[in-house]
Amino acid sequence: MPQRVVTNDDLSKIVDTSDEWIYSRTGIRERRFARDDEYTSDMALAAARLALSRAEIKPSEVDYFIVATASPDNTFPNTACWVQKGLGCEGAACIDISTACSGFVYGLQQGAALVNSGESQICVVIGAEKLSAITNFKDRGSCILFADGAGAVVLRRSLDKGRIVCSRMGSAFDFDALAVPAGGCRMPASYQTVDEGAHKIAMKGRATYQTAVRKFAEMAMEACKRGNITPDQLSWVVPHQANEHIIVSAMERANVPKEKIVMNLERYGNTSSASIPIALDEAVSDGRIQRGQYVLLMGFGGGLSWGYNLIKW
Ligand SMILES: CC(C)(COP(=O)(O)OP(=O)(O)OC[C@H]1O[C@@H](n2cnc3c(N)ncnc32)[C@H](O)[C@@H]1OP(=O)(O)O)[C@@H](O)C(=O)NCCC(=O)NCCS
Repeated sequence: MPQRVVTNDDLSKIVDTSDEWIYSRTGIRERRFARDDEYTSDMALAAARLALSRAEIKPSEVDYFIVATASPDNTFPNTACWVQKGLGCEGAACIDISTACSGFVYGLQQGAALVNSGESQICVVIGAEKLSAITNFKDRGSCILFADGAGAVVLRRSLDKGRIVCSRMGSAFDFDALAVPAGGCRMPASYQTVDEGAHKIAMKGRATYQTAVRKFAEMAMEACKRGNITPDQLSWVVPHQANEHIIVSAMERANVPKEKIVMNLERYGNTSSASIPIALDEAVSDGRIQRGQYVLLMGFGGGLSWGYNLIKW
């Protein structure tokens, strides 16, 4: 996580809002913003280094880097190439995944498929964002949500340890719900797009909220059915950290008690594709997640896109 803490009170000095409004609507108290000279790939690199050292794997052994991000350093070279360069090696496949807040679960599905098929021996999947660079700080309805950070996992084949039981991804086109309208070939950068803030995140909060609740609930129920387990057998759900109320009401619908939800958005806000691996790391590091447990990761975001990974840890 970047060092700089930005509280709701800090944001209330930039837009007309308050700690009370933000906390009661979202569950967020504070978030982290990267420095001006700290980029998505720097946070991704730090997360990859930590994951590799915990897995006792040398960077040169990695043959696939997947970075899920909605705020890449550049259009190209991709952010995964920056990470490989930072690790001081070359030759691995490097790709970015651009499915916004569900990027990490997409990356995990693809990384697992590569490793299971033997196409990759060691694959690093990273979720990393510098959303503060693409947040519209003139829009109080969205700027209170987004933040920066990164998390990473190392995937390799193992017969005696955990496995991904099942994954399923999906999407629907909805430009109005959540988009960065300008900067691509549809609306290339111009003085006008910059003046209008069109390179920043535009969101319809209410519509996104309702779809997210429905999708999170459907995904939890479907994952249990496909994994042949009951919601009771789930030890932990690690959802994308969008909004506490979205998560809790969706899990109520799916009969998953609040105590089983891993949530840290109070401290970190919505870090898009980084939020799941950051929360996962906390729950593994503090001992909540243990071997043999069923753990469900669920993402939802721009596209609209969604997906889940059910893991036997
Ligand atoms: C963004 C969100 C917190 C807004 O909450 P909401 O209850 O839907 O609020 P609305 O947008 O309907 O606005 C209600 C009022 O609060 C005001 N408001 C909006 N943002 C505000 C803020 N930061 N501070 C104070 N007032 C605010 C609005 O102007 C509106 O005022 P009005 O009634 O006088 O017009 C909520 O819709 C949400 O979390 N949606 C999901 C977004 C999300 O998770 N996106 C990422 C998905 S990956």
